[in-house]
Amino acid sequence: MTIERTFSIVKPDAVGRNQIGAIYHRMESAGLTIVAAKMLRLTEQQAQGFYAEHEGKPFYEPLIEFMTSGPVMVQVLEGESAITRYRELMGKTNPEEAACGTLRADYAESTRLNAVHGSDSPESAAREIAYFFSDDEICSRS
Ligand code: PPS
Repeated sequence: MTIERTFSIVKPDAVGRNQIGAIYHRMESAGLTIVAAKMLRLTEQQAQGFYAEHEGKPFYEPLIEFMTSGPVMVQVLEGESAITRYRELMGKTNPEEAACGTLRADYAESTRLNAVHGSDSPESAAREIAYFFSDDEICSRS
């Protein structure tokens, strides 16, 4: 059994619709444990640093604008194969392509306003968790 940690964001669109609880329920029902969480409003500098790998892509500026438009919830999820499991739970970036029953199929409005973020690899998970949380803020259950 591989217990992993992944990093997740409930984005400003979903926070603004009071969907934090519903999304947390879906995470926990999928076997993921929330071991750290906080609400914050990303500064432009924080968002630019977080999404630095996408700088120069056509969606970069709209993405930064959206991610700084309101509060987000950031959290660390722990569980067996948490990275893949949570990516599957989220569904594809474009909600029109997201499978039924995924978070984006149910909560995203568009490719831009797509409700949630999740790390795409162990390397990204480690970087993204450390970007927002110190070790003593993570309450591991494993
Ligand atoms: S890539 O190039 O394949 O890595 O891009 P992708 O994984 O599809 O998307 C990377 C992040 O950019 C967001 N995105 C967008 N934001 C605003 N507008 C548009 N058109 C757009 N297209 C993609 C996408 O939601 C990803 O954000 P995160 O937070 O990682 O989910």
